[in-house]
Amino acid sequence: MKKWEIAVIPGDGIGKEVVPAALDVLKAVADVHGGISFSFTEFPWSCDYYMEHGKMMPDDGLSTLRNFDAIFLGAVGNPKLVPDHISLWGLLLKIRREFEQVINVRPAKSFRGLSSPLAEPREFDFIVVRENSEGEYSEVGGRIHRGEDEIAIQNAVFTRKGTERAMRYAFELARKRKRHVTSATKSNGIFHTMPFWDEVFADVKRDYPDVATASYHIDALAAFFVTRPHTFDVVVASNLFGDILTDLGGAIMGSIGIAPAANINVNGKYPSMFEPVHGSAPDIYGQGIANPIGQIWTAKLMLDHFGEEELGAFLLKTIEDVTADGIKTPDLGGTATTKEVTEEICRRLYKRS
Ligand SMILES: NC(=O)c1ccc[n+]([C@@H]2O[C@H](COP(=O)([O-])OP(=O)(O)OC[C@H]3O[C@@H](n4cnc5c(N)ncnc54)[C@H](O)[C@@H]3O)[C@@H](O)[C@H]2O)c1
Repeated sequence: MKKWEIAVIPGDGIGKEVVPAALDVLKAVADVHGGISFSFTEFPWSCDYYMEHGKMMPDDGLSTLRNFDAIFLGAVGNPKLVPDHISLWGLLLKIRREFEQVINVRPAKSFRGLSSPLAEPREFDFIVVRENSEGEYSEVGGRIHRGEDEIAIQNAVFTRKGTERAMRYAFELARKRKRHVTSATKSNGIFHTMPFWDEVFADVKRDYPDVATASYHIDALAAFFVTRPHTFDVVVASNLFGDILTDLGGAIMGSIGIAPAANINVNGKYPSMFEPVHGSAPDIYGQGIANPIGQIWTAKLMLDHFGEEELGAFLLKTIEDVTADGIKTPDLGGTATTKEVTEEICRRLYKRS
């Protein structure tokens, strides 16, 4: 029996609704498989926790998390209580950075039963590999003066090591798929970092002659995600560009509520963290209508990470069967609740076992 110890952080808002849903599904997956099990340890770190303790997690939070096999997170953020930059940097980004989760993997595909907002979408299936540790999301910079003389400076940080690592990850992933990598650049407008990005991409691609490549400026690439998403396989992007592109990936699938993500630690020193693309959705929290699919598909990425790819594929197919039969939450045009979608997925998992 293989057993994985999972640290669970539901976080804020709908994170507290979709995480329990995904845990129910993982329990069903384990039952169906029979040879694996999960042990879940929950941590209440969130904006509510901040209101009580003045911090998003305890000082020894990271050392507590370190020994788990993976971290399963919902969403963080309640701007009514805590400014977003405090909640994000105090928990999510802290874990990503300190645990060297340098790669963010975000798949997007056309889903059976979902209507994409695109007028005539062809089938698409791509993965965005987002550099997750540096780039535009840096703490380097500052603000001086006040009033009309105020100045804000934000520095982007691109290291050869970090850039190359993300690109190699993308090429290796493409080798297991359709052997095509697209680079998201903006070297016509961003003077230093993006020409550097292009140079590193040209260097790395020489080591993968069996993988075809393309390179587009981020503005054109965003448009192509709308006009011809079926032409992409693996897309590699900087931290900011990847972040924006993947919300778009969620949107063309039908809802950001189904988009999954994995923050991967590639050197094996720390656990990886799995969290959906969406946030805490305060506008719908408490109504029981949050779409659990983003969190459940994220659980599938965690199964893949543990080497249980067949089981992951079975889970994804089951989710798609449920949407294909019209059992969908309101963000997808349905009337089902979070609970109903989750119970249906579990029911079908058991039925097919
Ligand atoms: N990874 C994270 O933890 C993360 C990511 C993005 C935003 N946030 C935080 O979440 C809070 C809200 O941010 P936002 O409104 O910009 O983004 P959001 O993703 O929370 O919501 C955007 C829109 O999508 C809808 N939506 C999102 N997830 C859904 C789901 N599962 N089912 C149905 N509808 C869903 C929401 O109702 C909302 O209309 C902020 O505090 C923000 O900082 C956190």
